[in-house]
Amino acid sequence: MSGHGDPIPMSAQKSGPLTGVAEVPGDKSISHRALLFGAMAVGETRISGLLEGQDVLDTAKAMRAFGAKVTHVGPGEWRVEGVGVGGFQEPEDVIDCGNSGTGVRLIMGAMATSPIVATFTGDASLRGRPMGRVTDPIALFGAQSVGREGGRLPMTIVGAAQAVPVRYVVPMPSAQVKSAVLLAGLNAPGETVVIEKEATRDHTERMLAGFGADIRVEETDEGRVITLVGQPELKPQTIVVPRDPSSAAFPVCAALITEGSDVLVPGIGLNPTRSGLFTTLREMGANLDYENMREEGGEPVADLRARYSPDMVGIAVPPERAPSMIDEYPILSVVASYAKGATVMDGVKELRVKESDRIDAMALGLEACGVTVEETEDSFTVHGMGPGGVPGGATCKTHLDHRIAMSFLICGMASQKPVTVDDAGPVVTSFPIFEPLMEKLGATFHREDV
Ligand code: S3P
Repeated sequence: MSGHGDPIPMSAQKSGPLTGVAEVPGDKSISHRALLFGAMAVGETRISGLLEGQDVLDTAKAMRAFGAKVTHVGPGEWRVEGVGVGGFQEPEDVIDCGNSGTGVRLIMGAMATSPIVATFTGDASLRGRPMGRVTDPIALFGAQSVGREGGRLPMTIVGAAQAVPVRYVVPMPSAQVKSAVLLAGLNAPGETVVIEKEATRDHTERMLAGFGADIRVEETDEGRVITLVGQPELKPQTIVVPRDPSSAAFPVCAALITEGSDVLVPGIGLNPTRSGLFTTLREMGANLDYENMREEGGEPVADLRARYSPDMVGIAVPPERAPSMIDEYPILSVVASYAKGATVMDGVKELRVKESDRIDAMALGLEACGVTVEETEDSFTVHGMGPGGVPGGATCKTHLDHRIAMSFLICGMASQKPVTVDDAGPVVTSFPIFEPLMEKLGATFHREDV
């Protein structure tokens, strides 16, 4: 599968029962950060379990362009020889972040307080996404930027030669923006303060502390106040990347809607800033158990056991839960199609600026499959058709969005007629083994002739 090559149409047909163990790859958010923070440390960081998806490989390539030595030593095993905070060299060529918003936004933040110039681009999806949410705060540090209309890539950032620290209230729930500001703050003197009104994934805070940065987090009436002391020497780490809950979502949800299924998805992080989907599914009546609960690397981890769940009912998902499951709404909307009653997803307008407009992409595809949906700018409602009730028989557009592609392929595993996606190529960005892993559990996929 290739994110940039010819489209790869693929269809899924009634499958199952799904059985067995689904070992999903490493966490994408943590993998990007492990490479980036390793590149800003002094000495050798050792990483195992790194997600070798295209998004993360693009970040590895970018770190080399900024001067770090990044070596692949075996499956999931990587070494990063860092250049230290403020040690980035000026890249010789344009940095292509492919499909990855996390990659480009975090790297822009990380270089914004070094006296170097870098130009960034990406694929058609990434070139359509807003970068003003990062260029606005990095301008406060003294960085300049020039991009296309609407703050789109390609874009050139001129890093601040004499950065000043900032105090910044993040205007939208975004871990990428929060992280970009913290990374910029690393090479500014004094204290940089970032405030988020709603808690988003906290991997940056946890990992910066692990690398030895002086960072503290306080819960106040204003929100989460994160204070970082600039210009630390980051110490290299040994990082074991946990398996990705956002990837686990696909085999878990497939098992819930596919008759007779019983699937174990081991070693999944249940960090509360990431596990909102599993809470929601349990509230809907999913047969989803947390087995062998334990703590690994300071994070709660469990083996997820998902079984066919014909009694799921639609619920109103609390909007305040959105940041902890923001990437999971596409697959939740598929599960909702097989539940009884309506599932209301409110407070989700950030979905409109992901790899695609995910509200539109899911609404159009589900409607084509015979499901009734309603959308507003900030909400999405799916009227469930009950177990096995989705007609299917449609071709859904994936808009260069991996999660849309995987969601519709899972939809087709329980629908009456097969569901086709116009391009499964983008799946490699986050879940390169999706197709063989799902087929091993009992999925029936076909690559269509173009
Ligand atoms: C991510 C943050 C989220 C998420 C993305 C990964 C991260 O984006 O959608 O897939 O690793 O920080 P936003 O921060 O823009 O919500």
